[in-house]
Amino acid sequence: MLRPILRLGDSILREPARPVAAITPEIETLIDDMIETMYAAPGIGLAAPQVGVSLRIFVVDLSVGRDPAGLSVMINPEFVAREGMQLEEEGCLSVPGFTATVARPKRVVVKGWDRHGDEHQLEGTGLLARALQHEMDHLQSCLFLDRLRGISRELIVRKIKKLSKVGKW
Ligand code: NI
Repeated sequence: MLRPILRLGDSILREPARPVAAITPEIETLIDDMIETMYAAPGIGLAAPQVGVSLRIFVVDLSVGRDPAGLSVMINPEFVAREGMQLEEEGCLSVPGFTATVARPKRVVVKGWDRHGDEHQLEGTGLLARALQHEMDHLQSCLFLDRLRGISRELIVRKIKKLSKVGKW
């Protein structure tokens, strides 16, 4: 089932997500819904707080559903390694219509549970490293805007405020 994606301004996006205690049927449904919602958006990553559930879960798929091997589900994820630096354009389904250049480590390794509750590890460079870090940020209430320097952040925030005033956000 598709779930509505919350936008910047919703307080759930600003709460640190709680760890998942066990893989219950509700958690399995949530994961299925997150995958469906990510593909429909379409997007390459989605974190549970973006659909209003403050739990440490995210899904990523750089192929957006074209390659079954591209999908990863991460529950209770943690960084194992972060290194290097990359500067690329980035956006977010919770901040639709805006992108900005964000500095991120170039390579990351994340470990967590898969959807069966088994430990797994995911290594990413380039875009996958960026997506993993972006989703990890969502779990600690951080949006890509928070990683921008003053002026570029201000410009986007100001435009979103204008859109909100006329009911278009
Ligand atoms: Ni995002």
